[in-house]
Amino acid sequence: MCNEYIPFLSEIKEVKKHTEIEYTFRMAYVGDVKPGQFFEVSIPKFGEAPISVSGIGEDYVDLTIRKVGKVTNEIFENQVGQSLFMRGPYGNGFELEDYKGKELIIVAGGTGVSPVKGVIDYFGDHIGETKGMSVIAGFKGPKDILFKDSIKRWENQMNLTITVDKADEPGYKEGMVTAYIPDLEIRDLDQAAAIVVGPPIMMKFTVMELQKRGIKEEQIWISQERKMCCGIGKCGHCKMDDTYICLDGPVFNYTKGKNLFD
Ligand SMILES: Cc1cc2nc3c(=O)[nH]c(=O)nc-3n(C[C@H](O)[C@H](O)[C@H](O)COP(=O)(O)OP(=O)(O)OC[C@H]3O[C@@H](n4cnc5c(N)ncnc54)[C@H](O)[C@@H]3O)c2cc1C
Ligand code: FES
Repeated sequence: MCNEYIPFLSEIKEVKKHTEIEYTFRMAYVGDVKPGQFFEVSIPKFGEAPISVSGIGEDYVDLTIRKVGKVTNEIFENQVGQSLFMRGPYGNGFELEDYKGKELIIVAGGTGVSPVKGVIDYFGDHIGETKGMSVIAGFKGPKDILFKDSIKRWENQMNLTITVDKADEPGYKEGMVTAYIPDLEIRDLDQAAAIVVGPPIMMKFTVMELQKRGIKEEQIWISQERKMCCGIGKCGHCKMDDTYICLDGPVFNYTKGKNLFD
């Protein structure tokens, strides 16, 4: 019987720097994994951190990590060729089938783009499997914009809006992501589906704006980020009422997800 807590070693194949404190680590991994799932990444003597999958390849997964504390600081000390401990993938992730044939709207803020990036990448490359896709991604400022290479590709694939809260240089759209929802082109409300990922307050207000446009809550999915420990429904750290965010989520339809805010 295998012990789910035992991590495996994964080699860092590539490191991409997005900002001073946000890098993508391309980790060797072969196996089934879905956008929106996460791995527990660990460094002995420092601890573990749940990190979402931001890209998926045949022999790798991308993990985009913000350096914020004990474990993540230590992860940034590692270079290409070195290895990190990982266990997972955990959580339900996004079901691509839920969005096929739909007019897909994705609204994400900051590192919230990471968990949904695999969905954007997939439908960007298979746009014919949707009835069109609009993506609004918001960042604090120009220097905080993540995934600039992907953004260049997405510009030609979908209706893309990149916005920053405030720009100190010309050439950027400014304002919260919510400001761009009233002008979104939605051709067939019944066929629309939306994904919203970001800080809780951003998700709440974004959902309200989408609802003002006539999108019903059962057509909206969110991804919740709560403090986690085991990641596999054993320790109860992430539990809200009878829901284990690590196991039943982190992706929820809004009919359920609306009850999972603090
Ligand atoms: C399902 C899930 C997916 C995540 N995906 C990513 C990701 O793709 N990229 C990424 O950079 N981070 C992600 N996080 C957050 C990440 O796990 C935390 O930032 C990390 O655990 C912090 O560990 P640390 O030891 O470096 O920081 P610590 O020394 O523990 O803390 C530093 C600061 O980070 C805060 N913090 C600690 N844990 C969390 C947490 N779970 N969520 C939010 N804030 C926290 C603390 O309150 C403190 O302010 C995710 C979290 C969850 C639950
Ligand atoms: S993190 Fe342990 S039960 Fe969810």
